[in-house]
Amino acid sequence: MRISVIGCGYLGAVHAACMAKLGHDVTGIDVDPAKVSELSNGHATFYEPVLDELLSEVEESGRLRFTTDMSAAKNCQVHFICVGTPQKRGENGADLRFVDAAVDGVAPYLDPGDLVAGKSTVPVGTAARLEEIIHASEPDAMLVWNPEFLREGHAVSDTLNPNRFVYGVPDGSEDHPAVAILDSVYEEPLAKGMPRLVMDYATAELVKTAANSFLATKISFINAMAEVCEATGADVTRLADAIGIDDRIGPKFLNAGIGFGGGCLPKDIRAFMARAGELGADQALTFLREVDAINMRRRTRVVELTRQLCGGTLLGQRIAVLGAAFKPESDDVRDSPALSAAAQLQLQGATVTVTDPQALPNAAKRFPELPLEPDLEATLAKADAVLLLTEWKIYRDLDPHETLALVASPRILDGRNVLDPAKWRAAGWTFKGLGRP
Ligand code: UDX
Repeated sequence: MRISVIGCGYLGAVHAACMAKLGHDVTGIDVDPAKVSELSNGHATFYEPVLDELLSEVEESGRLRFTTDMSAAKNCQVHFICVGTPQKRGENGADLRFVDAAVDGVAPYLDPGDLVAGKSTVPVGTAARLEEIIHASEPDAMLVWNPEFLREGHAVSDTLNPNRFVYGVPDGSEDHPAVAILDSVYEEPLAKGMPRLVMDYATAELVKTAANSFLATKISFINAMAEVCEATGADVTRLADAIGIDDRIGPKFLNAGIGFGGGCLPKDIRAFMARAGELGADQALTFLREVDAINMRRRTRVVELTRQLCGGTLLGQRIAVLGAAFKPESDDVRDSPALSAAAQLQLQGATVTVTDPQALPNAAKRFPELPLEPDLEATLAKADAVLLLTEWKIYRDLDPHETLALVASPRILDGRNVLDPAKWRAAGWTFKGLGRP
């Protein structure tokens, strides 16, 4: 099928490459000429495992190209909307400017029978409004809401083999013609037996926000347990192991630590609360305010624990921060708890050095005053305390004896609960975890 993908960021660049991998003829469209030029040379403008290899492979096959010219959508049958929906400045709601611009931009190029497929995360009610815009331009074009659940760091495999497909169509019916078109797009993964659920627009939009809210709630639940553990001397990691064995609860997303960040979970729960307020259903989601507050308290807790680790004061203490990305295998620093804690420590008088295998260029843009060091050993050199804040494998694999030889004082805070405290203590370290004795 001939497909256009509008918006070539974290979501769209991956989606475009994966659709070409599935055998479709794909044109990626983005307003940013620099992004288009990099992508056209087989390079994503962000770090995502295996994406560059995939881009080169499908570009060489001739099935994928990128352009800034919206008229390239003209001969495509399916148009995926993959632009961002960031949080509005100073408000909780989502900024739909880019979604509106993408739909306004593609509308004049639609032919009868064309399908616009929305993948961006939007407030419930958006699809019905966008359908009107599309119909005003081409009454016989269709809109389907097809939310995306990919995780950064696993984006390619999550797009090629998602664990479910959700199609939102106006009447919620399997017989809607948009269903057959999307089934052809996803023929290969569907043939492997991936579940596919057809529903109305509003439900499809809510699936995405509900899923992210649940994940955020699960993380904040275990972080709330970490607070209680800290007050009682209990160990939240053993608690999570034990409750996670119950398959009604499950072990995933029960890693207590410095909390969630990134471009999705924090802004999605806030946009969801804002939308519920507009709909007069704000009481239903007031618990998400608490989820957000628990998450933010973790960042403050890191600062407090570091102060304790340094003997009661941060002034002049050299702190080595391992990790800037909001999670490993990503260079994304949007709402990164690691960087937020590093910046607070610096403001409170510590001499902070941050390292990360991928995210330093993005960290420099967001926090230009934070000293960044690409070399791990140089970061650790003469440190008074080491903080592991993003659980990259190279940090999880650090040897306590070798690390001890580099630092000034053997003190470590494991912000992700991924190190073995007994091993580090045995090597002579003062060790602190979050929610652990
Ligand atoms: C998330 C959803 O998982 C994905 O389905 C959706 O499409 C987009 O949002 P992503 O933002 O890539 O994906 O990251 P995710 O892996 O969910 O992690 C989010 C944050 O939670 C990270 O900061 C991570 O470090 C943190 N986290 C995750 C925890 O603190 N504890 C956990 O147990 C799991």
